[in-house]
Amino acid sequence: MNKVIINSDIEKGTISKHIYGHFAEHLGRCIYEGIWVGEDSIIPNTKGIRNDVLEALKQLQIPVLRWPGGCFADEYHWKDGIGPRENRKRMVNTHWGGVVENNHFGTHEFMLLCELLECEPYICGNVGSGTVQEMSEWVEYMTFDGESPMANWRKENGREKPWKLKYFGIGNENWGCGGNMRPEYYADLYRRYQTYARNYGDNRLYKIAGGANIDDYNWTETLMERASSLMDGLSLHYYTIPGDFWKGKGSSLQFSEQEWFITMQKALYMDELITKHSTIMDKYDPEKRVSLIIDEWGTWFDVEPGTNPGFLYQQNSIRDAIVAALHFHIFHQHCDRVHMANIAQTVNVLQAMVLTEGEKMLKTPTYYIFDMFKVHQDAALLSLETDIENIAVEDFHLPKVSVSASKNDSGQIHISLCNMSLSEKTDVNIQLRGVNKIAEISGEILTADYRNAHNSFENPEAVKPENFTEFTLIDQFIEVNLPPMSIIMLSVKE
Ligand code: AHR
Repeated sequence: MNKVIINSDIEKGTISKHIYGHFAEHLGRCIYEGIWVGEDSIIPNTKGIRNDVLEALKQLQIPVLRWPGGCFADEYHWKDGIGPRENRKRMVNTHWGGVVENNHFGTHEFMLLCELLECEPYICGNVGSGTVQEMSEWVEYMTFDGESPMANWRKENGREKPWKLKYFGIGNENWGCGGNMRPEYYADLYRRYQTYARNYGDNRLYKIAGGANIDDYNWTETLMERASSLMDGLSLHYYTIPGDFWKGKGSSLQFSEQEWFITMQKALYMDELITKHSTIMDKYDPEKRVSLIIDEWGTWFDVEPGTNPGFLYQQNSIRDAIVAALHFHIFHQHCDRVHMANIAQTVNVLQAMVLTEGEKMLKTPTYYIFDMFKVHQDAALLSLETDIENIAVEDFHLPKVSVSASKNDSGQIHISLCNMSLSEKTDVNIQLRGVNKIAEISGEILTADYRNAHNSFENPEAVKPENFTEFTLIDQFIEVNLPPMSIIMLSVKE
């Protein structure tokens, strides 16, 4: 029997809502088709942004959205994406599929999207192929209130008041697609570029340095040593890839039992990465002023057969939902250092929330995890002790169950649980220490009968949350019966 003690009177910190952040890049059909269809489209839209996707995403209470990349950010020249759309430069998206980028979705359109979603923008500037002046002027264009060349230009383009912009990235993956730099060189460039990303009026930028790839601890060490006093956040990118990045990542739907467990193990590796990068950060920043920003994470599989290899379009199954839940539990656990995370990516790319096909749209299993877990946003992380069995599969050391608990401002407790087993039900005995009397419990579950269960355009609701009642309550003890491949959210009121 698995046992969990939740200390409802011991709070370990706040789970920043920004951990539930998103990322939308000019890649494949994420921005174009997925979000932006243009005002003349037959697909119902609000000033060019498709309504079905907007409605679905609004429901998730997205706190922050990263844009325009990714690798695209270090090739993006923001001035190409403002002014009358018919005059905007048509360029080649060299990194992603070599397709034409007509720049119809630019700064104004992105800021509109954030306004409609009621989320904060997180903009990634161009260090790889852009100048210091270009980055500096972008910040001026967006945030300067008063008379200046860039502010005047913004007004001519229809936006009188500056936008509020907090999160600003100084380049992306500068060890790779963002310039193939050495950490020493990038640290110097970071210092220089960020100097001219100014704070205008009361707008205060939260500057995020391009961080390490996976376990490149030397990158983190060098950046922290040389530039941490000038940054608010340092990023980290890690994708869950069951296979090999270059030789074959694995299929999103056709995978073996073995690949299921490899995927779980690789998702759980995020914990080790955060622990080790944070330990290095502690050396230079023991007060934890600089956050670790996981601004790209999620599953990365081979593209769907017959689709453009540069578009990174993949299906999404109950396996992806479990990967998402595991990541949230890990991020919660590290909430003292991890203040933001952005899943890659919101629509039609990698581990997406929604997939579109022409006028059709469907919600993925991952979407429902973001929906079910939003109750943890900005809640207090509760301390817990666990005694969890291992999954009885050779060569894998995986716990059967992952769990996390939080308490919100109204005192409501949310417990999320996840059973990684493919075939075994499992019981969890939860003791809720520190509560007087439990007045009410309700539950929601996302589960499936097949390991590759997913939503398709033919069957868009095959996987969706349902009411969950498989628990019993005796005093402070809740006994929960978790089906295999399931994620459960319990809401407890005192
Ligand atoms: O999310 C897809 C790509 O993965 C991003 O553009 C890049 O930053 C990363 O390598």
